[in-house]
Amino acid sequence: MPESLLAAVDLHVSYGVNAALAGMGFAAHAGEAVAIVGPSGSGKSTLLRSLAGLQAPTSGVVHFMGRDLYRLSDKQRSQIRLTRFGFVFQSSELISELSLLENIALPVELNGRRRRESLRMAQSWTERLGIAEAARRRPATVSGGQRQRAAIARAMATRPAVVFADEPTGALDSANRDHVLRLLIESCASEGSLLVLVTHDAVAASAADRVVEVVDGHEAPVAVSVGAPR
Ligand SMILES: Nc1ncnc2c1ncn2[C@@H]1O[C@H](COP(=O)(O)OP(=O)(O)O)[C@@H](O)[C@H]1O
Ligand SMILES: [Mg+2]
Repeated sequence: MPESLLAAVDLHVSYGVNAALAGMGFAAHAGEAVAIVGPSGSGKSTLLRSLAGLQAPTSGVVHFMGRDLYRLSDKQRSQIRLTRFGFVFQSSELISELSLLENIALPVELNGRRRRESLRMAQSWTERLGIAEAARRRPATVSGGQRQRAAIARAMATRPAVVFADEPTGALDSANRDHVLRLLIESCASEGSLLVLVTHDAVAASAADRVVEVVDGHEAPVAVSVGAPR
């Protein structure tokens, strides 16, 4: 088996006396789509933030490309987030003063590309995700589905090794939800990005390569198949 791209061992995260994660593990390879499911409050978002270098665990380790994320400096960790990770959250969190195209180009530019090149890459992602027509408009003047597609484009345009998505379609109606989700999964698959997808949606989970179920801050025990009696 190839070495994991992203792995966590024995993660604990506590908020005061309240344990959000209690011995959670995780391991995934490049190009996989992993769905994280579980009841509300089970620790899914906390797990995603810890894996993404956004929240230091109380104890335990997170390895990305063989490096211990929380032993790096803040600056090194932000650099990894900027250059290697993409993020899609429930609300698109686009900058309201910029067009969709400029929003998508911004992180590419922050990654050191020239503005023209960044806009060209952004343009090609708006075409791939079917929002080229709306690309010059500001977020407030387009639909929620278009905003989420722009958020996916923004996450993909820097060619991240890992895309972290936390309930990315949670605010969309059901017709849009399936379509946007499929676009996210296909985009990651075609770029070879690992997708770590927190979702409530059973359809979403079934579209992933693998499902990790979180219950009370740790991985749910795998149901054992006992096979047919003889
Ligand atoms: N910033 C916080 N401060 C205190 N408790 C928190 C905070 N964030 C999450 N929690 C608690 O940690 C547990 C897990 O939360 P979360 O990871 O958001 O779960 P999920 O995403 O599965 O709904 C919950 O009990 C939640 O109330
Ligand atoms: Mg959550």
